[in-house]
Amino acid sequence: MAYQSLYRRFRPQTFDKVIGQGHIIRTLSNQLKSGNISHAYLFTGSRGTGKTSVAKIFARAVNCVSPLKDGSPCGECDVCKELSNPANLDILEIDAASNNGVDEIRNLRDNVKYMPAVAKYKVYIVDEVHMLSAAAFNALLKTLEEPPEHVIFILATTEVQKIPATILSRCMRFDFRLLTIDELVKLLMNAFDGIGRKYEHDALVALAQAGQGSARDTLSLADMCVSYCEGEISYEQVIDALGICSPELILNITDSILQGNVDAALYALNDMYEQGKSISGISREITAMLSNISYAKNCVGANAFLKLTSDMYERVRKVASNIENAKILHAMEVFCYLDGELRYSSLPKVMLEMAVLKACEISSDFTQDGILKRIKALEERANNGSFMFEAGSGEGEKPMPSGDKIWGEIIHEVINENASVRVLLDSYTPVCELKDNVLYAYFADENTCKVISTVSDTIFDAVKRRYPNITELKISTISVRTKTDAEIEKIKNLVGGNRVIITGGKTNG
Ligand SMILES: Nc1ncnc2c1ncn2[C@@H]1O[C@H](COP(=O)(O)OP(=O)(O)OP(=O)(O)O)[C@@H](O)[C@H]1O
Ligand SMILES: [Mg+2]
Ligand SMILES: [Zn+2]
Repeated sequence: MAYQSLYRRFRPQTFDKVIGQGHIIRTLSNQLKSGNISHAYLFTGSRGTGKTSVAKIFARAVNCVSPLKDGSPCGECDVCKELSNPANLDILEIDAASNNGVDEIRNLRDNVKYMPAVAKYKVYIVDEVHMLSAAAFNALLKTLEEPPEHVIFILATTEVQKIPATILSRCMRFDFRLLTIDELVKLLMNAFDGIGRKYEHDALVALAQAGQGSARDTLSLADMCVSYCEGEISYEQVIDALGICSPELILNITDSILQGNVDAALYALNDMYEQGKSISGISREITAMLSNISYAKNCVGANAFLKLTSDMYERVRKVASNIENAKILHAMEVFCYLDGELRYSSLPKVMLEMAVLKACEISSDFTQDGILKRIKALEERANNGSFMFEAGSGEGEKPMPSGDKIWGEIIHEVINENASVRVLLDSYTPVCELKDNVLYAYFADENTCKVISTVSDTIFDAVKRRYPNITELKISTISVRTKTDAEIEKIKNLVGGNRVIITGGKTNG
């Protein structure tokens, strides 16, 4: 027999096999038992959550001669047997997505008057009903207004906002919700037990998380793992098959980012490249981990819905407890933006690295917390006298060295401390100038400036240690030194006057 995919093989045939959606099943089951059946239903909700499956069960249930206790079709009686044949004439499935449906709906309108062939009710299941054209909706409306006694409509859609109000008001509406991790784990257990495959529980949780609330998506991923895994379906193999990074690795890199540890973050990134993880996958998983951290920090007992392993949850909580919300928020913003941009970029790897650098950057923390911290640092400096003297103010005080000399001195110090800064500073040498206690560093182009700005705090810290009276480090693009007036004019015209800073002695000419 040809292989049948798990989600088709495990389409529920009775209500008790439908996972989640308890509120819907209960109402439908009660209606069936009391015979109080409506003539038009609307099933809405995300994809793969059971709309079509429940519609099919209900269509057979209303007709079954000896229904089960919960109202489900028995599957044994003559009617059930007849209706399980896809070619039967009483359960009619119309796919509104395949054409915009005018002909089908007109056809339907002409045919509803005929009595069902074997069953009590003729049931029309109109899938993806939001795809109907305006004309088709109008044709449908006529029939919905006064359907014959023997007709039931079940309209299904993922996009309820596209359904005209006139249709909505004539239907009894049921909202199918996304399935929880626990529910998806149960679904997977049933499926793997059903095909006789052994599994690790953690493997099921990883699959359920990847399925994002959709039963169909979860079973499709499970299908892939069934083929991929040898022997027992293990956590390790599932992680590999799905191409996701190990949560430990993701937590490590996210922690480094939140700590502003560029060095460790870039090393972790390279580990992931080496494992062959995709750029967009890495980005998505860092974002998901940031969300976990935010929940673990702000909601007591968050693991009730995060469903991390207890060991992992403890580690996430520990990371969360050492970091302020503002930093988590900053990193989330950077990575959400990245996710939107990645699909358009021809340099996704560079984009990811830029995002990591940017998320690490603490100087961009303009939240109340961040500003208060910086004020406090300034107060401390004021108190310990760092602001007390100006360059060249005292008699006989040593003159300050030139900007270039200061840069040379401190760079030597900085690169010994921090490997990531070393990489950057080895590659780019600026022209420097000291003016009014501000150290200006001019780099060749805007991009270099951006890159260097990510480590400017580290550099400035080193400058301050040696030269406490330097109040600021400014990194910018163009410096004009030793140029003639005519040349300076030309450059100003080229790059815009306000970006040109003239330093030192220019030659005459
Ligand atoms: N609630 C559920 N319980 C058990 N299995 C489910 C459930 N929902 C979906 N499935 C599984 O997913 C498959 C597809 O489900 P179904 O066609 O009912 O989803 P749907 O909501 O109609 O999706 P779509 O919006 O894409 O049409 C089913 O065959 C079944 O294997
Ligand atoms: Mg469907
Ligand atoms: Zn039956």
